[in-house]
Amino acid sequence: MAKNQGKAPLWEAIRKHIAKRGTGFHTPGHQGGRGIDLEVKDFWGLNVLQSDLTEVPGLDSLDMAQGVIREAQQLAAELHGARGTHFLVNGTSAGIMAMSLAVGGPGKVMVVPRNCHVSVIRGLILSGSKPVFVESEVDKDTGLVLGVALAALEEVLARNSEAEAVLLVHPNYFGVCGPLEEQVGLCHRYGKRVLVDEAHGSHFSFHPGLPVSAMEAGADLCAQSYHKTLSSLTQSSLLHWGERWTDEERIKGAVAMVQSTSPSYLLMASLDLARRQMALYGYELWENTLARAAWLREEINKIKGFRCLSREDVYGSGFAQMDETRLVVTGASLGLSGSQLADMLRESYTINVEMAQGAYIVLIITPGTGEGQSRALLTALAQISLQGQTGRYPLTIGSLPPLPLLRMNPREAWFARHRLVSLGDSIGRVAAQTVAPCPPGIPVLIPGEEISPEIGAYLTGLVDTINIVDG
Ligand SMILES: Cc1ncc(COP(=O)(O)O)c(C=O)c1O
Repeated sequence: MAKNQGKAPLWEAIRKHIAKRGTGFHTPGHQGGRGIDLEVKDFWGLNVLQSDLTEVPGLDSLDMAQGVIREAQQLAAELHGARGTHFLVNGTSAGIMAMSLAVGGPGKVMVVPRNCHVSVIRGLILSGSKPVFVESEVDKDTGLVLGVALAALEEVLARNSEAEAVLLVHPNYFGVCGPLEEQVGLCHRYGKRVLVDEAHGSHFSFHPGLPVSAMEAGADLCAQSYHKTLSSLTQSSLLHWGERWTDEERIKGAVAMVQSTSPSYLLMASLDLARRQMALYGYELWENTLARAAWLREEINKIKGFRCLSREDVYGSGFAQMDETRLVVTGASLGLSGSQLADMLRESYTINVEMAQGAYIVLIITPGTGEGQSRALLTALAQISLQGQTGRYPLTIGSLPPLPLLRMNPREAWFARHRLVSLGDSIGRVAAQTVAPCPPGIPVLIPGEEISPEIGAYLTGLVDTINIVDG
């Protein structure tokens, strides 16, 4: 470990600032908790409120970092093997939009998987880039969506020589990873930049039993939701640029476009501390987490009617590795859909899952997952198994309707004059907005796409009105 990784420069500067017990006439309006609702003060405590600071001398500025924030970002870059790193206080969503602004532009082509997160589409709208979609493979037995197969990627690259960049999702919500190193190598051979949505993979660098990380695979840019699998606060993420990315000003300028000029010091300090925690104890914490996940997988598989997928269950050239800390569980042979199982766990056992889709529920195991919590899950599943459900739910993640035609560029459609019509009246018209059920936040429809009868039928179960482009 590099010698400074044991430090947390931003956190230490905040502690020093609070210890001076100075006073100020600046934001935030609650002024270190003195002006806040008493109930909040009592519940959150003064330390949290005093740490909610603004850019005062000694605490640097995120937009033009030259002091402790810069040091904290450099330590994060060093730990992840990146050329540089920027803190994000608006999640990986902001990082993805910034990547699109940094690489794309009006009319520029970007290759993206159609099953990407909604923030990718928002990035295309902001930058005016034109998407070319590449299909992700689907595993026939489990119904899981895999990564993009190399052959499919090469075919799209060969047909779209003008493309600026390729965006890849690594891993997806189910912990499934495509052959990232080969994908990156292929894109670079075609002279394309590679941007990686690594929202669910911030922990990959910390244990060899986890999949390869985007920076290790040679990506140009990647964004990681530190808050999803590591211990920083919700909304805090990192954007890294790799060795091949030399235009630091461009990426920083793009990040500034999508972030507040009053970034939260609570969020930034939590990033600094989560990075320090990983530098000091990452291997050990993920060693234990992998062991807990393996044990849970084994125990779940012993319960009649339940199955927890492992890497041996998944096949396809769009599949290379699986994040074994993600538990993808099905009670399909008890006749249960993922959402029925999730409802039973929540209503009868107060257990909330990360996501339910098709036949599956997805559970995230992290260093924060406790023994009692794990045993409670096993007890709940064992009791559900005894309840005697019958039937068989199809093993899918719920197939989306066929891809609609892209009639207009997403940005053009978003800015076009549009109006709200009933879903029934929308068929054959062009969508003005994104429709993306959350989670997983994957769009069924994006601005510019024609609303097909199949999409209409699919959405009827979810919504009853929709925004369309006028005329
Ligand atoms: C695949 C994927 N990418 C990006 C995001 C956005 O991340 P964040 O919540 O940090 O903005 C999510 C959020 O769920 C996601 O699942």
